[in-house]
Amino acid sequence: MLKGTFPVEKLKTLPTPFYYYDIALLNETLNVVKTEAAKYNYHIHYAVKANANPRILSLIAQSGLGADCVSGGEIQAALDAGFPPATIVFAGVGKADWEIILGLDNNISCFNVESIAELKVIRDIAATKGTTVPVALRINPEVDAHTHAKITTGMKENKFGINLGQLNGVLDELSAMQEIKLKGIHFHIGSQITDLSAFQNLVFRANDIQDNLEARGIRLENVNFGGGLGIDYYHPDHLPVADFENYFALIHQLFRRRDGQHVHFEPGRSIVAQCGSLISKALYVKEGETKRFAILDAGFTELLRPAMYDSYHRIENITSDEEAETYDVVGPICESSDVFGRDVKLNKVRRSDLLALRSAGAYGEVMASQYNCRKLPSAYFSDTL
Ligand code: LLP
Repeated sequence: MLKGTFPVEKLKTLPTPFYYYDIALLNETLNVVKTEAAKYNYHIHYAVKANANPRILSLIAQSGLGADCVSGGEIQAALDAGFPPATIVFAGVGKADWEIILGLDNNISCFNVESIAELKVIRDIAATKGTTVPVALRINPEVDAHTHAKITTGMKENKFGINLGQLNGVLDELSAMQEIKLKGIHFHIGSQITDLSAFQNLVFRANDIQDNLEARGIRLENVNFGGGLGIDYYHPDHLPVADFENYFALIHQLFRRRDGQHVHFEPGRSIVAQCGSLISKALYVKEGETKRFAILDAGFTELLRPAMYDSYHRIENITSDEEAETYDVVGPICESSDVFGRDVKLNKVRRSDLLALRSAGAYGEVMASQYNCRKLPSAYFSDTL
């Protein structure tokens, strides 16, 4: 069966389960995103939430990308990894006071603000400090991302952003807030978007909003289209780098960018997903009455996505070439949702074989938990093994 390339003999010596990162692929992806973005002078802020492993973060910081953060913890992690504050943006519907203060004290470049209630708190904190705050309004554009319901964010019923119908009211209030400097607008319609027409609809909406704002005399220095570009979970080796070329070209073609305007993006998954695999050991093969189970030493504590979003991750037995058999691949957690894949064809699995769960570099290690008193997984990197 077709498999990725792994330094299997080295991996066999490491205690499982763990994340393994292919640094050459990460660097290749960073080169592609930078080259494609440079064609249009786009600003890229890596969405730290996708993977905040310190080594991965520092490599991304060194590559020159900025950071998109959604918590004080992420701002701190980004600063520690070397992202310059002037490249950090801060989003999130529920920013706590200490997080706002951390952002202000470090002079981050922009607060992406999601409600009038939040604007007032930021204004008050800025007033006590005698400072002004650069802000972009996160607008909920009511555009369907055609992705999983749990990772859709740009619909009226989602908690995110300022509803279109409320935008004028927010702008009225904002005009009286001297501490707030309106820099631009921000969108994020969802994640794992593979149908580029969703982005097309977003740009049409952004064009209309921009016209309306200009009619009110508001000129936007920044427009931020958020993240969301999907990756190919089914063919991680055929298409290891996401389609940044067509994505940016589409935005460039359709967005009516004004002179001198800065266009920003916040990709997360598309930067780090394909370079990471969760490596786990087969503990048992259990022949049930209707199913054959491969029971691994990793569960949803290490990779939550299949249990939480029914998401597909390609699974490979990287230590066997024996004839393929069909397995339900499950973890050791005491919950029936702890399943990585049903009816998966794998080279015959024996105890102690190593299995790779592919495309796990995004929303894998960061979402690990200690449920069942388990240890958090460690991480190894191809260039330092
Ligand atoms: N910007 C904002 C404001 C976001 O909320 C997100 C993701 C991103 C950027 C990055 O989106 P990306 O390029 O990674 O699609 N845990 C889920 C994904 C949640 C995404 C949340 N927001 C999963 O495992 O699929």
